[in-house]
Amino acid sequence: MKSSIGVGLIGTGYMGKCHALAWNGVKAVFGDGPRPRLVHLAEVNRDIARQKADEFGFAKATGDWRELIADPDVDVVSVTTPNAFHAEMAIAALEAGKHVWCEKPMAVALADAERMAAAASASGKVAVLGYNYIQNPLIRQIGTILADGTIGAVNHVRLEMDEDFMADPEALLYWKSEASSGYGALDDFGVHPLSLLQVLLGPVTKVFAHLSKPYADRPTKEGTRRAVETFDTASVLFEMGAGISGVMALNRSAWGRKGRIALQIFGSKGTVVYDQERMNELQLYVASDRPTEQGFRTILAAPQHAPYDRFIPAPGHGLGFNDLKIIECHELLKAIGGESARVIDFSTGLVIEKVVHAMYESHRRGAWVVLE
Ligand SMILES: NC(=O)c1ccc[n+]([C@@H]2O[C@H](COP(=O)([O-])OP(=O)(O)OC[C@H]3O[C@@H](n4cnc5c(N)ncnc54)[C@H](O)[C@@H]3O)[C@@H](O)[C@H]2O)c1
Repeated sequence: MKSSIGVGLIGTGYMGKCHALAWNGVKAVFGDGPRPRLVHLAEVNRDIARQKADEFGFAKATGDWRELIADPDVDVVSVTTPNAFHAEMAIAALEAGKHVWCEKPMAVALADAERMAAAASASGKVAVLGYNYIQNPLIRQIGTILADGTIGAVNHVRLEMDEDFMADPEALLYWKSEASSGYGALDDFGVHPLSLLQVLLGPVTKVFAHLSKPYADRPTKEGTRRAVETFDTASVLFEMGAGISGVMALNRSAWGRKGRIALQIFGSKGTVVYDQERMNELQLYVASDRPTEQGFRTILAAPQHAPYDRFIPAPGHGLGFNDLKIIECHELLKAIGGESARVIDFSTGLVIEKVVHAMYESHRRGAWVVLE
């Protein structure tokens, strides 16, 4: 493995900063793997790019992302721009021989996601998606609990994802309410709980969905009002293999909910419960406990839940959202180094995209849709 790796970052908003923190922190946290060299940063214009390059520690700055992709010092490209740009940027990077770390959702159109998966496979490069929640050490622990049979055979799953960043009906309209960003809560949001399902229990096989718009229009910064083109809520019934049924509810206009990804997995011998708003704990109920002591126990994240130990030696002190991105960055570097890694690559990402598009199709038709 090379002792360093050249990094390019496109976009410096919410996720761009998150990737920058991860690239800056990964070597200090994990100690192994190549040291990231922060080579090139791209934004919508050179002034913003220069300012952010200074803040994040990147050497070069450009207002043209294609310059970054053409840079021979860049080995891996972080794509953290709005959804509509993912396909074009990720495919260009792969065709230029770069590894890619692209934010979710993969793309807006299924055909674009398919082109991305094909480009990744043709390039032989590593291409992974920003599904950070699968990296929580306690989500890994849920995987262990399921594999150990602690809660028996899983028969039902309930998932909820709620935030309130679109709850204010008078908040200005921006790209997340435009059809160019996708369907709305389903692909902006639903892909995260679906990523948890994918790593914990495998693919969804059948869906029935209903989408809705809490607000028909929103104000614009020009002082007019424009129609909301996306659906901020989704209610979905689904089935998975091995007789598992499920319910998923999504709402990005849910006042009071700040970062809820609530997961309940019910099995023949117990139940496991997790909520991203309390990301350092999980609840486990085991039916074989003595009846006099039965109840949900709270398990706090601790060094025993790898890789928590790489961040903090003390139990119960807690990781944060940005730490998940550092773990994701480390897994990406492992994949680039040829090691087995816990990532959702473009081919598994495509499986999730197909589920999302099947859900929209179900809403449109008012019928169950079966995935091939
Ligand atoms: N993994 C997660 O938990 C998570 C959370 C939030 C957002 N996201 C995803 O991250 C992506 C970005 O979302 P965000 O919330 O960071 O958005 P944002 O609006 O905060 O940031 C987007 C950035 O991209 C820049 N940009 C736009 N067009 C560009 C171009 N042509 N060239 C260079 N830069 C350009 C913008 O100037 C902005 O700085 C989206 O796909 C979103 O779905 C993922």
